[in-house]
Amino acid sequence: MTDGFDIGTRAKARCDVLGLPPCSEIDGQLTRRFLTPAHAAALSVLEGWMTEAGMSVRRDAAANLIGRYEGEAPGAKALIIGSHIDSVRNGGRYDGPLGIMLGIDLVEALHRAGRRLPFAVEVVAFGDEEGSRFPASMSCSRAIAGTLDASALEMRDADGVSVAQALAAFGGDPVGIAGAARSPKDVLAFLEAHIEQGPVLEAEGLALGVVTAIAAQKRIMVKIIGTAGHAGTTPMGLRKDPGPAAAECVLALERICRAGTGGLVGTVGRITALPGAFNVIPGAVEFSMDIRAETSATRDAAVDAICVEIHAIAAARDLTAEIRMAQALAESPCDPGLTDLLEQALADLGLPARRLPSGAGHDAMVMAALCPTAMLFIRCEGGISHNPAEAVTEADCALAARAMLGFVEKLSLSLSSRPQRSEEPGPQQSPAHPAVPDRPFGTSGMTGA
Ligand code: GLV
Ligand code: MN
Ligand code: MN
Repeated sequence: MTDGFDIGTRAKARCDVLGLPPCSEIDGQLTRRFLTPAHAAALSVLEGWMTEAGMSVRRDAAANLIGRYEGEAPGAKALIIGSHIDSVRNGGRYDGPLGIMLGIDLVEALHRAGRRLPFAVEVVAFGDEEGSRFPASMSCSRAIAGTLDASALEMRDADGVSVAQALAAFGGDPVGIAGAARSPKDVLAFLEAHIEQGPVLEAEGLALGVVTAIAAQKRIMVKIIGTAGHAGTTPMGLRKDPGPAAAECVLALERICRAGTGGLVGTVGRITALPGAFNVIPGAVEFSMDIRAETSATRDAAVDAICVEIHAIAAARDLTAEIRMAQALAESPCDPGLTDLLEQALADLGLPARRLPSGAGHDAMVMAALCPTAMLFIRCEGGISHNPAEAVTEADCALAARAMLGFVEKLSLSLSSRPQRSEEPGPQQSPAHPAVPDRPFGTSGMTGA
């Protein structure tokens, strides 16, 4: 690019800066949950980088940070480029932030070259893709897509703080959150770059891949209720202990998913015995189940099967089971036209355009309700993610940024250099796009991670 700016090469180092306090809640690891001081610190740093790159920066009611680089005509439709700034507990540094850094670099390259496009470019840092603080995830992209259910504001974290309370304390606007929704008339498309979080690209010796679709997922919370008692005095045959029942449920989920096809996977990522002491038979055991598949139909068949088994396991031990749905997201195909453009951008760099599906969830699957979407995958070491060992190379990040720039140039050409004003339609959405993804349901009053 011009004046020695090497697009994409600093993206990895910037993610590393954000991996430390104050941008992490905990020293020695990266934990940056939604609406925490670490989230606020990361947004402040990003705000500076976005401004330096030539963007005007604002925060919306849902705590999304949005940088805008105007197109040839002010007020043009926007290509939104973004990913999430929150992390899982003790996570990696690149899952999410890398896509934001690459978007900032892309804008800086345009800015330094004095280039304006027929559309605006916006870079968004979503705050809640992981759902690592509250039980459901993607509240921020849902707010932008206009699909956030009001009940999402009532979800509570492990300390009993609701999303509405945390958002207000953060400087967001829970009452006016509907104002964060963007109109399809103002948004041309959404592009997300993300580490693959799997081993396919590395195994095939490829730096980049083009995503075809994102898997359907469901989150359920299960509570098995028994009777708390003394661990020393209650004979084994006279206990109502939900612990062993919970263990059977975990094994049942594993059995159902192992026997399944169509990319079916199931995970119990969180399990809590209450009250939680060496010498107390738990009165209840709560656990999460995350179930995913290529299609909602396959996912739902597995969810139905495990729900039947959970009730049967509890009944056989004279216990009760409560199951609550925390979140459902339909599978989300990427837009075929945009996917072709991305593939051509890779080909221009001499890279094979490996197409692959995503088993991980992404904000792109929520944004698909608003506009056509495309996703670029970047190789990560050993396919390891949601783990501090997550690693990418500077060279792959630079290639990704160049591919994104190529995509943007091709998108400009495909629009025949006509300014994209709000009233003009953008690229056609695939007929396969779900018009409205499944909304979270039954989340009211739930407690979270
Ligand atoms: C996010 O990383 C998810 O796939 O849950
Ligand atoms: Mn993640
Ligand atoms: Mn992610």
